[in-house]
Amino acid sequence: MTKIIDGKAISAAVKERVKKGVGELNQQGITVGLAVIIVGEDPASKVYVANKKKACEALGIISEEYALPESTTEAELLSLIKELNAKKSINGILCQLPLPRHLDEKLIINSILPEKDVDAFHPHNVGRIMIGDYDFVPCTPAGIMEMLKYENIEVEGKTCVVIGRSNIVGKPMGMLLLHKNGTVTICHSRTKNLKEVCRSADILVAAVGKAGFVTPDMVKEGAVVIDVGMNRENGKLCGDVDYEAVKDKTSAITPVPGGVGPMTIAMLMQNTLTAAKKQNGLI
Ligand code: GUN
Repeated sequence: MTKIIDGKAISAAVKERVKKGVGELNQQGITVGLAVIIVGEDPASKVYVANKKKACEALGIISEEYALPESTTEAELLSLIKELNAKKSINGILCQLPLPRHLDEKLIINSILPEKDVDAFHPHNVGRIMIGDYDFVPCTPAGIMEMLKYENIEVEGKTCVVIGRSNIVGKPMGMLLLHKNGTVTICHSRTKNLKEVCRSADILVAAVGKAGFVTPDMVKEGAVVIDVGMNRENGKLCGDVDYEAVKDKTSAITPVPGGVGPMTIAMLMQNTLTAAKKQNGLI
């Protein structure tokens, strides 16, 4: 029987845990605050930011939204981040990506104080993930690890294949699976024999950004398949996995929507709580 991994239920459990943690800090007179910066009018980014704000409100995290015009200069954005870096009541800072083209993404990310970098995009935090000594993990890979843990899916000794090598998902995902003693392969557009490599996977993570990319001939019987895809096809959200065709071959699979997606915001909330605890000397 295939287990359909319910990201909504698991994210609700994570959020409940975070809410409790925030409440405990509040009782000690400590607030938890997240600043979310959005530059420009990208409609998808606006939806993501609105959802992050809603999640904060539900968990008792104070959210400050900075919606800046497309014309914002690098100096103006850097000046805002500098101010938020110094602001006591703000524990986490998130600058929604992608930024308008005239802004240097790397420079902006590097200007966020690593202790407040709840996305874990700053090179300091990326390096810490590499050596296995980290406070923050990028939200999507963190959410996937949480799902595997919740479903008691053992990683140790498993053949793990990640399709996609982005800095946000593919690379950190590979590191987290490696830290759990999985044997990890990261595939990309130049990978030869992609189908064969994928078919060797006990755990297959698809983060390609192409609807229906993973077909049944790429999936081993009984594999765990995690679908990170968020593709819009005729207005409908669909994953990187041909879900209906692949589902019955797997032992467990995440649907889209309702799989990895809801976990991302839950893990952002968790990173924000961790930031507040660290900054208050509680961990
Ligand atoms: N854009 C798409 N995903 C993300 C994310 O996780 N964090 C930020 N800051 N921007 C994004």
